[in-house]
Amino acid sequence: MMAYLLNVSITEVLIGVTVGLICWLWMRSRRPADFPPGPIPLPLIGNIHQLSGGNIVKAFRRLRKEYGDIFSLSMGSSWVIVVNGAEDLRELLLKRGDCISDRPHIFILKLRENHGIIASNGSTWKHQRTFAHQKLRDFGFGRRSFESRISEEVDIFLKYLEDFKGKPFDVSEKLNISISNNVMSIIIGRRFDYDDPKFKYFVGLLTENFKNAALAGPLYFFPILAKLPGDLFGAKKIVDISIKLRQFYKDEIKEHKATYDEKNIRDFTDAYLKEMELHKNEKDTTFTGIELSHHACCFYLHTEQ
Ligand SMILES: *[C@@H]1O[C@H](CO)[C@@H](O)[C@H](O)[C@H]1NC(C)=O
Ligand SMILES: *[C@@H]1O[C@H](CO)[C@@H](O)[C@H](O)[C@H]1NC(C)=O
Repeated sequence: MMAYLLNVSITEVLIGVTVGLICWLWMRSRRPADFPPGPIPLPLIGNIHQLSGGNIVKAFRRLRKEYGDIFSLSMGSSWVIVVNGAEDLRELLLKRGDCISDRPHIFILKLRENHGIIASNGSTWKHQRTFAHQKLRDFGFGRRSFESRISEEVDIFLKYLEDFKGKPFDVSEKLNISISNNVMSIIIGRRFDYDDPKFKYFVGLLTENFKNAALAGPLYFFPILAKLPGDLFGAKKIVDISIKLRQFYKDEIKEHKATYDEKNIRDFTDAYLKEMELHKNEKDTTFTGIELSHHACCFYLHTEQ
């Protein structure tokens, strides 16, 4: 009799706890009252299931038809507001840009600790972005002079191909190096040979970084997965690669500092060192060595994309 009572009460307790948990998850997954409409989210996964299954563009079109130009989706641990249509986008980006200038708290940005253009926000982002835009242009980015630099690189590349005299080989690594060289010429003022082991290593890291970034997709919405034992989503790998990529550029900065001459600004890195010098007595300057070492990584990542 006692055992029977105990059994029942344990079962009841379990049922109670389960119902409580489901209710709690359900409440947590509800759409906040002031959010735009959208499909009802499920506990834990939110609306992710509505986007899975291949064609994501189709899925968004379908949701737009049903919920209008502005709708919201729950993506695991965070909410996403989707804006459609040229008019609304223009208003959002041009007139209310400040509302959306913050960064999401996602794994890949936390990695940069709010440094560099991709991960920073507020006044740091504004200063750094304005400076980078202007200096990249000064050194030819997006200008005619950059075109001639690219065609120089193409000439060297073609010459390199000729040396193989028609023998087959994997061209993709050399091509990657050649493309990275264009950015290098602006950032650190020089190019690398296609067989330079240090640069091969660097470009290899970039490629690996992209492969891992794709693998890490689920971490954006379920950050807790990064804490699982092992490295199923490549989180540890990405951290490791990111440190190595930055180290490459830190070495370059060191070299630039050693040979710096303020009357001969050779490249973006020199220009940045000069800016740091100009602001060095300001207590809250955003031009710091840390920002600089994150910049280069941002540029490489952009151009590779
Ligand atoms: C914005 O940057 C500051 C540091 O500059 C940081 O403390 C804060 O968390 C950042 N905000 C977001 C939303 O990333
Ligand atoms: C060159 O870059 C592309 C794009 O990032 C990548 O898919 C490819 O694997 C790279 N090739 C090598 C040999 O690293």
